Amino acid sequence: MNEREQELAQLNEEVRTCPLCPLAKTRTNAVPGEGPIDAEIMLIGEAPGFHEDKQGRPFVGQSGRFLEELLRSAGLSREQVYITNVVKCRPPENRDPAPREIAACAPYLDRQLAIIDPKIVITLGRHSMARYFPGQSISKIHGKPKRDGDRVIFPMFHPAAGLRSAEVAALIREDMLKVPALLEELRASAATTPEPVPDEGPQQLSLF
Ligand code: URA
Ligand code: SF4
Repeated sequence: MNEREQELAQLNEEVRTCPLCPLAKTRTNAVPGEGPIDAEIMLIGEAPGFHEDKQGRPFVGQSGRFLEELLRSAGLSREQVYITNVVKCRPPENRDPAPREIAACAPYLDRQLAIIDPKIVITLGRHSMARYFPGQSISKIHGKPKRDGDRVIFPMFHPAAGLRSAEVAALIREDMLKVPALLEELRASAATTPEPVPDEGPQQLSLF
C-alpha cells in the first residue's frame, strides 16, 4: 500500500469505530464509502439508510439502484466513482441528520476529499449541497456546475427524490447526462493548463 492508500484505510477504520456523535449508539455498521482512490468523480449522498447500515456499504438499496442506472445512462459505472455520504452512520428512522451530527462527521468528508482529490464532486440532495451552497435552493441550482479551486461541484437532486416524483426523476436524468462533457472539459484543461498563475484569476469553462 502506498501512503494515500494507507491514509484511506486508516480513515475507513476510524469511521467504522467512530464514537464522535450520538449516531454511533444506534448504528449497526458505519458506512465510510467506497470506490477507487483515483476516482475522478465523487458522489456525496446524505446518510446511510436501512440496507446501507446493515451492509456497511453506501447506496445499496433502492436509491442505489436508481443511482447506478443514472450513471450507466451517462456512460459511467458505479465502479469508477467514489461514493460516500455527509454522515457515515444511519440516523434512526432515516430522519434528517442533525446539524451537530453533520458537523461531527465533516472532518471525515474533508479528509476523503483531500485523499481522493476528485475533479468533480456531485452532491446528491440538500444536505450535501449545503456544504458548498449554503442557503441556496436545490430546485434553482441543480445541474449548474460551480468552480471550487481546481474542482467542480455539481449539485443534483437526491435519487430518493426521483423515486418519489417522476418530474424530479426527469430532472435528475437530464442533469446526470451533463456530467461526461464536464469531465471531458476538466480532463482537457488539466492536460493543457500549466500550474495556474495566481494573478490570472479563475479559469473560465465553457459549460458554466
Ligand atoms: N441514501 C443516501 O443518501 N445515502 C446512501 O448511502 C443510501 C441512501
Ligand atoms: Fe462518527 Fe460520523 Fe458516525 Fe457520527 S455519523 S458516529 S461522527 S462516523
